Amino acid sequence: MKKTVLVSGGAGFIGSHVTVELTNAGYDVVIADNFSNCDMTNYKGVCQILGKELPLIKMDFCDAAATDKLFTDYKIDAVIHFAAFKAVGESVAEPIKYYKNNLDSFLNVLEAARTHGGCNVLFSSSATVYGETDVLPVTEQSPRQPATSPYGNTKQMCEDILRDTVKAFPQIKGIALRYFNPIGAHPSALIGELPNGVPNNLVPFITQTAIGKRECLSIFGNDYPTPDGTCQRDYIDIVDLAKAHVCAVTRMIDGKMDESYEIFNVGTGRPVSVLELVNAFEKVNGLKLNYKFTPRRPGDVTAIWADPTRANEVLGWKAERTVEETLAAAWAWEKAIAK
Ligand code: WQD
Repeated sequence: MKKTVLVSGGAGFIGSHVTVELTNAGYDVVIADNFSNCDMTNYKGVCQILGKELPLIKMDFCDAAATDKLFTDYKIDAVIHFAAFKAVGESVAEPIKYYKNNLDSFLNVLEAARTHGGCNVLFSSSATVYGETDVLPVTEQSPRQPATSPYGNTKQMCEDILRDTVKAFPQIKGIALRYFNPIGAHPSALIGELPNGVPNNLVPFITQTAIGKRECLSIFGNDYPTPDGTCQRDYIDIVDLAKAHVCAVTRMIDGKMDESYEIFNVGTGRPVSVLELVNAFEKVNGLKLNYKFTPRRPGDVTAIWADPTRANEVLGWKAERTVEETLAAAWAWEKAIAK
């Protein structure tokens, strides 16, 4: 019998790509989203890619009764929880809003999972939990540093909540996936990232500059102790990232977990500097980008990249796409939405 996966925040950037890969892998997907930070574009794109309509519930996971009803209406075998606020800077200005939304929604999911006989829960975590570290690449055993923003703190807190919950309730199993820097778009250019206003993240800023929406990309700092002076990150293709979710969900549903709570890094293991990324974007897309060096952005870590060995060996997942392929997809998506 087909298994059903609930994707909270399924109309967003990561959720929409995960929905496509789960459906392609044979899962029934139920999407739930409150559309607080997205419109119908990605949902429509998902349906177009898959050639069918998927169940879509417009609801807020901070609403405990609505969350509970979802678990009554559908027999959910696994839930992937994306629904959360994600702007680091805004979280510093609006901590209460961030803690309330990101914690309440996850607690409601766990409560519903518990009262409906248990569930497999996949939490969307972040490499931000590692903070600044001298020991690179980071493994899942690397110590977490104190979070530098309320956003980062909600990721750490939700990981801990999930760990404690599976300990207390054996009917709940949990996996936290720690994403490095997700970038790119689906090769169809039907789904991708739709930042609200001025993008905070590098790749949407690059594509918006290339298309003329922004005048110039600021590269934040070229005096870091890295080979070319700019920060290094582990940029992971969004489709590769989505496939890691399929592996993790299948591991949970098939009862293959070694422990009831597991953590995996989802990255490539390959450090790429800001300048290297800009150069690769120009080369693969045959264009010149207007950029300048500006002072460091407060809060940025010098360098971070994953040791993805555990995900490679235990999940049987590996990042496949090259950074060039990913940047070509990001550019195709920017051009598609400009139309
Ligand atoms: C990458 C590099 C910047 C913009 C953040 C969050 C993390 C996760 C992903 C998710 C850095 C440089 C950027 C620009 C630049 N959040 N940069 N000019 O900071 O690694 O991670 O996003 O929801 O939790 O912390 O990603 O894309 O913002 O920056 O030079 O205009 O690009 O300094 O070195 P980051 P990013």
